[in-house]
Amino acid sequence: MIAAGSHIRETTASDGSITIDLPDEKATAALAGRLAPLLRGGDVVAFRGDLGAGKTSLARALIRALGDPAEPVPSPTFTLVQTYSLPAFDLWHFDLYRLESAEDAFELDIEEAFAGGVSLIEWPDRLGRWLPERRLEIALNFTDDGESRRAVLSGCGDWAARLASLRDD
Ligand SMILES: Nc1ncnc2c1ncn2[C@@H]1O[C@H](COP(=O)(O)OP(=O)(O)OP(=O)(O)O)[C@@H](O)[C@H]1O
Ligand SMILES: [Mg+2]
Repeated sequence: MIAAGSHIRETTASDGSITIDLPDEKATAALAGRLAPLLRGGDVVAFRGDLGAGKTSLARALIRALGDPAEPVPSPTFTLVQTYSLPAFDLWHFDLYRLESAEDAFELDIEEAFAGGVSLIEWPDRLGRWLPERRLEIALNFTDDGESRRAVLSGCGDWAARLASLRDD
């Protein structure tokens, strides 16, 4: 499907995954605004993509869409985790690039995050077998022009139906 009346191209594959062009950070913020109402306590969102692909930008836009639009959202590059007390739930923003072993994630309170909070995780593969199966996957890619980005959203468990509601809006 091509979204009508918009310069943003959006397509849905037969497996239900959604591809959305993000020509600039405004488009990233618009996607965050659509995703924010879908999130509930206990959710895990895995952000994939190369260095600089736009993972933190989308996570930051989501955190702002869920709470204060002026919220300072530093990248957790060095701290590995930043936490936010949002109106609907607590949110953990992880950047696990520098995590040395998957088990070290327990020192970052990842169990508490998974239990009731919302977890936004950059470099999710660092968690190995501890990465929850029920999660929303967002893969960010550079486009050919090197300036804009493209997001591919896919999910398992109830995320399939929740993504369908994203398509319908
Ligand atoms: N949709 C977009 N269009 C154009 N530029 C973007 C977009 N999203 C992010 N950027 C720019 O890309 C740069 C890197 O973004 P960001 O820090 O979010 O990447 P990252 O994937 O988190 O990187 P890292 O792997 O280092 O954590 C930033 O300068 C940001 O402004
Ligand atoms: Mg980042």
